[in-house]
Amino acid sequence: MELRALLYVLMFLLTLFLYFIKTRDHKDPNKRGRLPPGSMGWPYIGETLHLYSQDPNLFFAAKQKRYGEIFKTHVLGCPCVMLASPEAARFVLVTQAHLFKPTYPESKEKLIGLSAIFFHQGDYHIRIRKLVQSSLSLEAIRNLVADIEAITASAFDKWDGGLVVNTFQEMKKISFEVGILLIFGHLEPHFKEDLKRNYSIVDKGYNSFPTNFPGSPYKKALLARQRLRKILSERKEKKFLEKELLGCLLNSKDEKGESLTEDQIADNIIGVLFAAQDTTASALTWIVKYLHDNPKLLEAVKAEQKAIRKVNGEGNRPLSWSQTRNMPLTSKVILESLRMASIISFTFREAVADVEYKGYLIPKGWKVMPLFRNIHHNPAFFNDPKKFDPSRFEVAPKPNTFMPFGSGVHSCPGNELAKLEMLIAVHHLVTNFRWEVVGSENGIQYGPFPVPLHGLPARFWKESTSSNALPPHDDLTISYPLA
Ligand code: HEM
Ligand SMILES: *[C@@H]1O[C@H](CO)[C@@H](O)[C@H](O)[C@H]1NC(C)=O
Repeated sequence: MELRALLYVLMFLLTLFLYFIKTRDHKDPNKRGRLPPGSMGWPYIGETLHLYSQDPNLFFAAKQKRYGEIFKTHVLGCPCVMLASPEAARFVLVTQAHLFKPTYPESKEKLIGLSAIFFHQGDYHIRIRKLVQSSLSLEAIRNLVADIEAITASAFDKWDGGLVVNTFQEMKKISFEVGILLIFGHLEPHFKEDLKRNYSIVDKGYNSFPTNFPGSPYKKALLARQRLRKILSERKEKKFLEKELLGCLLNSKDEKGESLTEDQIADNIIGVLFAAQDTTASALTWIVKYLHDNPKLLEAVKAEQKAIRKVNGEGNRPLSWSQTRNMPLTSKVILESLRMASIISFTFREAVADVEYKGYLIPKGWKVMPLFRNIHHNPAFFNDPKKFDPSRFEVAPKPNTFMPFGSGVHSCPGNELAKLEMLIAVHHLVTNFRWEVVGSENGIQYGPFPVPLHGLPARFWKESTSSNALPPHDDLTISYPLA
């Protein structure tokens, strides 16, 4: 409560401050070109809070309706150009990416670590990205199927019995474990526990108000971050295989033969955990909701997955990589969930020079925001956009209209892993469980990624399957030669 009061006071001061710089902004000479349409009206408290705590999309959609695909505004005191068309997003993220650098609030950069991949451009970015990509390539993740399946199955089994669980929080456990697997491979349990507990303190700090008061969640998070860094640097002594991300980072040498520093390694590991956990958990939670809300579709997905389960001796044999690559309906459900939920609703860049786009000037230092969600919900690209309809993905979306994982040099290197986690989770969910969503409120919460209200409280029951009645394993190998 006190924090909230403080927040309001700070917002008030910020507003006063903006009021004073506003005049300067307006006098800003735009001799080189005209600025995009839109109002720079100083952001009053309501608007700024609205953007960050409630549904930001109403804010964007209203602006887009009024001004079109490109418009200017103020966000948290920064002059900003918002872009709501596929061409404009491509311009900023792909073709002219060198003119737009990534930009994040300083408080977030400090928590994740200044050397993390997201914050960089140029040679250093390319170097880290290659390493991250190699551990996330199809060749690498195909070896993770069995482990991901085991992680998923054991997490789901704990839900059995109809207790109310917070679906999002439970999904976070799965995406965290998979992140750890990707980075370290198999870890000793006590080490994993230390990581998990310290990381969860960092996690709480991401969404808290960034004050350095002792005892504030943000301050605690910074301290936990230092402990994580220490844990990771002690880890250096251990031998790692090249295939895990930590091994890739530890063994990397640049052309001069220089290794990465401990800070660079720690920041990127914390960064990947951050990038991987809430995003994937949010997507998984939305899938549970959409399947629940569309019973006919759920039946069809069940049929697809039960056929696979049957081939695998009613779950006695693990999923294979090739099975995960051949789940046509489930794959479309995942794509449609990503479109509907648009987990990363928009992103930020900053112009490093004056840039001209379609006759408009984007001045140096201004922020630009490609609005993914608005593009995903534009009826010109996705017919009847509010309808959950996986069959729309039977034909490929128009170029640059579908960007759940971003686009260009900073696009998500974890997209195949995320999809793999979702396929495996859906397989286990629909073949083993029935579930009920608790409460009838439909709503979205932003934390900062969109999640169904209250994390989608739900009850799960394991369905009794015929597997108990099946003959022993050996016989199955004979009865199902397809596997
Ligand atoms: C459904 C789950 C996920 C979604 C929707 C998602 C979405 C995105 C998006 C939109 C970006 C680009 C942001 C920008 O351009 O500003 C991004 C970047 C990134 N993602 Fe993901 N992501 C997901 C899962 C993952 C996973 C599982 C990992 C790793 C294991 C991961 C690692 C990263 C990294 C390292 C970057 C930064 C890349 C760079 O700056 O070059 N993501 N993600
Ligand atoms: C964080 O990690 C350290 C090991 O460096 C461990 O001693 C400590 O218990 C962990 N903290 C929490 C809150 O789990």
